[in-house]
Amino acid sequence: MEVFNSFHEFPQRFLDKSYSLGMVPTMGALHDGHLSLVEKAISENDKVLITIFINPTQFDDDKDLMNYPRELQKDLEKISHFGENIWAYTPNASEIYGEHLESKHYDLNSLETVMEGKSRAGHFQGVATVVEYFLKTFSPTRAYFGEKDYQQLQIITHLNELLGLSTEIVGCPIVRTSDGLAMSSRNALLTVEERKIAPQIYQGLQLAKKLAKDYIYKSILDEVHAFFHKHSELKLEYFTAADPSTLVEFEPDEKITRGRGFIAVRLGKIRLIDNINMS
Ligand code: PAF
Repeated sequence: MEVFNSFHEFPQRFLDKSYSLGMVPTMGALHDGHLSLVEKAISENDKVLITIFINPTQFDDDKDLMNYPRELQKDLEKISHFGENIWAYTPNASEIYGEHLESKHYDLNSLETVMEGKSRAGHFQGVATVVEYFLKTFSPTRAYFGEKDYQQLQIITHLNELLGLSTEIVGCPIVRTSDGLAMSSRNALLTVEERKIAPQIYQGLQLAKKLAKDYIYKSILDEVHAFFHKHSELKLEYFTAADPSTLVEFEPDEKITRGRGFIAVRLGKIRLIDNINMS
């Protein structure tokens, strides 16, 4: 593995691309979910570039940005095991943004105005800005993103088309711990007690999926709200079932088995999201 702190440090052999390049953009605090993306990228490309950059413009809350886990040395240690065809890029903000730490503006259409977009103003514009930078700077053959951030994956797929880039955007399944909790860098911020409670998020999603076979959306919404009312440490921010590509929410009287269920909850100070295929 080789580590580059700046684009200018990449040797010429990196830039003459006679090989396929897989890119795994991350904000660090790497867990098995990230490592599964790296493994898939390695299996499908000659070389793999992992970017580790905590992107300030995608945080709508300064405290959240400040508390985001920073574990660069541990991260590099984890990916060093993947061998010599791995590069890590760990830029600083000025390399990407210059003097103005601001997002660009993209037409992300209605993909941006629902769920995470509603709760986190400007979040996806920040994500799009940094992902455009990575895609345009390195022109990877493929770029890998987890379905844990499913809305982000749809937005990046849209962005890639909007910008007319040739990278293939590859979505990868959610990786869960044995108790069902979706892997996330934020899990490290949970207290021991909160960590025990957190798997109930996935139980709520599984309940919705089970009910979707027989009931319309409105009844499922009622049941999911009742479930989280009972598990009151988990503050439900939203549960939404939506079309998997357009993210348009179902009507209350529709069956939702062809959709995806999305959830955001607060557990103590930590906000967690998850989703499930309803079919
Ligand atoms: O999913 C993430 O870790 C980030 O949103 C991404 C895609 C690396 C952009 O900062």
